[in-house]
Amino acid sequence: MGKTILGIAGYYHDSAAALVRDGEIVAAAQEERFTRKKHDPAFPAHAINYCLEEGFVDAAELDAIVFYDNPLATFDRVVQNARSGAPGAGAPAGRALFAQAAGNLLGDKLWVNEHVRQALGTLGREGRVLFAEHHMAHAASAFYPSPFDSAAVLTIDGVGEWATTSLGVAHGRELELFSEIDYPHSLGLLYSAFTTFCGFKVNSGEYKLMGLAPYGRPRYADLIREHLIDIRSDGSYRLDMRYFGYLDGVAMAGPRFAELFDGPARAPESQITRREMDLAASIQKVTEEIVLRTARHLRRLTGEKNIVLAGGVALNCVANGKLAAANLFDGIWIQPAAGDAGGALGAALLAHHGYFGAPRARASSAVDAQRGSYLGPRYSSGEVLAFLDRKGYPYRRIEDREQRLSLVAEALAAGKIVGWMSGRMEFGPRSLGARSILGDPRNPRTQATMNLKIKYRESFRPFAPAVLREKCADYFDYDGDSPYMLMVAPVREDRRRPMDTSAFDKGDDDMMAVINQPRSDVPAITHVDYSARIQTVDKQDVENGGHPEFRALIEAFERLTGCPLLVNTSFNVRGEPIVCSPQDAYRCFMRTEMDLLVLEDVVLWRAEQAPLADDEDWRKTYELD
Ligand SMILES: [Fe+2]
Repeated sequence: MGKTILGIAGYYHDSAAALVRDGEIVAAAQEERFTRKKHDPAFPAHAINYCLEEGFVDAAELDAIVFYDNPLATFDRVVQNARSGAPGAGAPAGRALFAQAAGNLLGDKLWVNEHVRQALGTLGREGRVLFAEHHMAHAASAFYPSPFDSAAVLTIDGVGEWATTSLGVAHGRELELFSEIDYPHSLGLLYSAFTTFCGFKVNSGEYKLMGLAPYGRPRYADLIREHLIDIRSDGSYRLDMRYFGYLDGVAMAGPRFAELFDGPARAPESQITRREMDLAASIQKVTEEIVLRTARHLRRLTGEKNIVLAGGVALNCVANGKLAAANLFDGIWIQPAAGDAGGALGAALLAHHGYFGAPRARASSAVDAQRGSYLGPRYSSGEVLAFLDRKGYPYRRIEDREQRLSLVAEALAAGKIVGWMSGRMEFGPRSLGARSILGDPRNPRTQATMNLKIKYRESFRPFAPAVLREKCADYFDYDGDSPYMLMVAPVREDRRRPMDTSAFDKGDDDMMAVINQPRSDVPAITHVDYSARIQTVDKQDVENGGHPEFRALIEAFERLTGCPLLVNTSFNVRGEPIVCSPQDAYRCFMRTEMDLLVLEDVVLWRAEQAPLADDEDWRKTYELD
C-alpha cells in the first residue's frame, strides 16, 4: 500500500498544501485562492481541506505530514540577524526587528504541530510533523516531478533558513545539495531591493520589474557589479551589505541606493520614468549573468545533461529563456510553482522518496509527473448550473463541444474578451487555460483593452501567448516545450514589424507611444523587445498533463482565423488572487469589461447580465499589488 503524504507551506507568504499518494501528485493548491487574500501567509487550512477531499483521505490515515522548512533553523537566522543589529539597519532597529520577527516565528512557526493538530485533529501516523529543509523542498519540487532520471539541481530564492542559492545533483530517488550561498547574500533579495526601489511591491512586483526591463537599457549594470554585488566566475556572489537594509528576510534598498542611482526611490503608482526602466534592465542583466554562470559551473561540476530549477528566481522566465538559448543542457525543467507555495509539494515528495525511501515510478518518462499543474479544484457543470440557477443569472448551456468552442472562437475573432474556467485550477502563479482570460493576439487593441479595462493594471505589461505546440516554431525562435509559461523566446523575424522608437530613444518617458505600435502580426503578445512568454499546448490527455478542452479551443480559433495561438492571461484583476470557484469567476467577470464568460459547458454574455446586486468597487476589495 502506497504512502499518502500531506505537504504544507505557510506563515511567510504563499501558504499552500499538497497531497502525494504513492509518489503521484494528487492535489496541490494555494491558500490565497480560497481565502481571496493574495499571497495569504496564514496556516493553509482551506488548501489542506481541499487536498484531503480531492484524495478522499481521512486526516488520520495520513502516513506523514511534512512542513516545507525548518522553523528552528529559520529562528536561528532571525536571532543572529537581530543580534548583529541586522545588516545595514543599525542596532536599535535590529532590536525592534528581533521583537517583531521572533514574535512571528515563536507565535506561528514553532506552533506548526499545534496548528496541524487543531486543524486536522491528528498528527497523522507518524504522530508528529516532519520538517524539510527549505531548499531541499524546493529542490525536490523541481526534480521529482521532472521527466529526468538524473539532473543538476539549482534553487534560487530570497531566503530559506539560511540558504539563498543551492546547487545539487539528483539520480533516481537520491537528491543531494552540495553547495550553497547563505543569507544575507541573496540574488532574490537583491532583485526585491530593486523592485521596492522602483516603486513595486515585494513578492508580486518582481514580475513587473522583469516586464519593464525591455523598455530600458542596462546602463546601471556596471554600477551594480562595482558596488552592490561581487560576482565570481562560477556564479557565486557576495552583496555589499552597506547598501541594504533587511527586515526579516525582506530586502530594502538602503539610503546609499539613492546616491548611487540618481535620486530617491520611485513612489508607488507615480509615473514610471526612464530611470526605472534602465534600473529594471540593469538588474535583469545582472540576474541573467548569475543564473548563466551558475548553470555553467553546475554543468561542469556534475556533468549532468539536464537541469531542474525552483525557488522564486526560477519564475524569471526571461533568465530561463536565456538559459535555454545558451544550450548548456539538453533538458530544462522548472517547477511551475517555483515560489514558496511549491515547497508544500516538494516537502511531500521529499518525504516519499527521502524519508520513506520509495523509488521514483515515472523517472525518465517522456512526460513529467506534474499533470500540467492542473492540481486544484474543479467544478462540474452540475455545480455551475446550481450556482447560476440559485442566483438567477441568465446563461446558455451548450453541451455539444464543437458548437460551444466555435461560438467562443468566433467571439474571440470578433475582438471579444473571454473569461474561461475549465477543469482543475492551476497550481503556481501562471494561468494555463483552466482559469484564464483569453483574447485575439492579432488584434492591435487587445493589449490596451486587457490591461486597462479588464485587469486594471499597468499598461506596459505584456501578455503571453498559448500556442499549439507543433506551431510554436512558426511564430517564435523556439521549438521546445514550455507547458508552464516559464520560457521567454523571440518572435520570429519574419513576423516582426518595424517600430518607430526615435522619440522614446531620445529620452521621452512616454511608453504609450511605443506600446501602441503594432510590433508584429500578433501584437498583443509581442513585447517591445520582440520577445514573448510562451505556453505551448500539446495534444496530451488529462492523465498526462494535457488540457484537451483548452487545446480544442485554440484549434477552433485556428480553423476560423489561421492563427494557432491565443492571448492567455490570469483570470483576476490587479491585486486579486486568480479565481477559483464559479462565484469568484462571475464576480470578476462582472467587475470588468469582459464580454463572455465560459464556466465549463455554460456560456454567459455580459450584455444579458443585470448589474451585480452586491456591486462593490473591486479597488476597495483588493489592495493594489
Ligand atoms: Fe523559498
